Amino acid sequence: MAERYVMSIDQGTNSTRCILFDNHGRLVSVVQREHEQHFPKPGWVEHDAVEIWRNLQRIVPEALSDVAVGAEDIAAIGLANQRETTVLWDRRTGEPLGRAIVWQDTRTAPLVDELSQQPGDTFFLDRCALPPSTYFSALRIRWLFDHVSGLEQRAIDGEVLFGTIETWLIWNMTGGVDGGLHITDATNASRTMLMNIHTLAWDDELLSFFGVPRVMLPEIRSSAEDYGEARGLLPGVRITAALGDQQAALFGQTCFSPGEAKCTYGTGSFLLLNTGNEVVRSRHGLLATVAYKIGEQPPVYALEGSIAVTGSLVQWFRDRLGLINNAPEIETLARTVEDNGGCYIVPAFSGLFAPRWRSDARGVIVGLTSYITKGHLARAVLEATGWQTREVVDAMNADFPVPLKQLKVDGGMTADNLLMQFVADVLDVPVVRPMVAETVSLGAAYAAGLAAGYWSDLEVLRRHWHRAGQWMPDMDPERRESEYDNWQRAVERSLGWIR
Ligand code: G3P
Repeated sequence: MAERYVMSIDQGTNSTRCILFDNHGRLVSVVQREHEQHFPKPGWVEHDAVEIWRNLQRIVPEALSDVAVGAEDIAAIGLANQRETTVLWDRRTGEPLGRAIVWQDTRTAPLVDELSQQPGDTFFLDRCALPPSTYFSALRIRWLFDHVSGLEQRAIDGEVLFGTIETWLIWNMTGGVDGGLHITDATNASRTMLMNIHTLAWDDELLSFFGVPRVMLPEIRSSAEDYGEARGLLPGVRITAALGDQQAALFGQTCFSPGEAKCTYGTGSFLLLNTGNEVVRSRHGLLATVAYKIGEQPPVYALEGSIAVTGSLVQWFRDRLGLINNAPEIETLARTVEDNGGCYIVPAFSGLFAPRWRSDARGVIVGLTSYITKGHLARAVLEATGWQTREVVDAMNADFPVPLKQLKVDGGMTADNLLMQFVADVLDVPVVRPMVAETVSLGAAYAAGLAAGYWSDLEVLRRHWHRAGQWMPDMDPERRESEYDNWQRAVERSLGWIR
């Protein structure tokens, strides 16, 4: 019998990728397409949901034709997606009602301030395990209702559908206005502030708090099960998985046991720690989130430290400051100097996410003297990612009984050896990178393949994980702690900038 493949679709913040994996978890075809980033006002970030859907329709046939296979060679499709990004569309025409509001968008900051002025209130933490933040979807729905005339009533009347990106894509892939499935999975739903983290159902009190009518919400399904046929995209092929991209990366890194953690270094960085079947309530600024739910099995949870700006700081350094021509050059530039020269950059471009959750913070560069060169700035850019990781790991070690012993990493920034060594140094644990760097896509493929019977169990998947790189900690402890202290003093200066 001819070899069959699992198709993975990763709809990320900057691009959409379609990857085919074989039975050994090896990548056989990859096609990617970027979409436009819209910044209509300071702090606003939007995507065109139709452009994303069109991109997907283009890359899927390309991924197949690149290796001369057809729909009949695809065992199943799995999706991973940028999380929290909010799309509303007209149920009858299928047209989006405005651009999608992206997870980085800070327009809901005034609403967050209102919600945060209830000290000691655990209303949200008890139900969705998330702190009020511009990050999550429910605030965006509320904002749209408050700013688009007649929208709220149309939603109440059942004319409007809500979805994060996977919901939007699955609806279109399964037929759109012609009976498309309106579903999400528990990992994505856990990022809306509308799902109860314990019951995995939409929570009436949260819905009523935000004034979100249930009729506009998708049905919450598990992350791996037979959802339906992709008849609007790849007729005859079943869609059998969907996960938020960071949860997909945890799955792709085969972090299946409590205590295993990964960090994906992309635009932002996201460190997830598997906490098993228990929701661990963070007391140190992390999120509890659904890691995955395979079919009828009980959900597995994670603690997450979300860092808003890491790779996008390198992009800013390249595109806005013009100090390098391409992202890898930052390492070369940083290696022209011995250290940061006393300079620290806190990239609070969207406020600060975990573990501080301060929407009033903005970026600062401190320690400037006439000694500082662009090489020192390059170091400070890379080190900002290391220190932000350290803050998250400190919070995890305080929240979870077993301290982190090793960190699995993936994502574009892991190509930077200087940075990976710095991460190992400041965490004081080994940092390891797998052979297949596309862990987001791999995780979605694994979940889809499990649901379709393409792979039998988690142990088979574990055996696919092979180490490609390792960095061992090698920093004098005194230096580590004094530099960490400098970093924290720099962060203090970024707080409260927006009044
Ligand atoms: O929570 C936001 C995250 O899912 C975005 O990930 O890789 O698309 O930037 P990425």
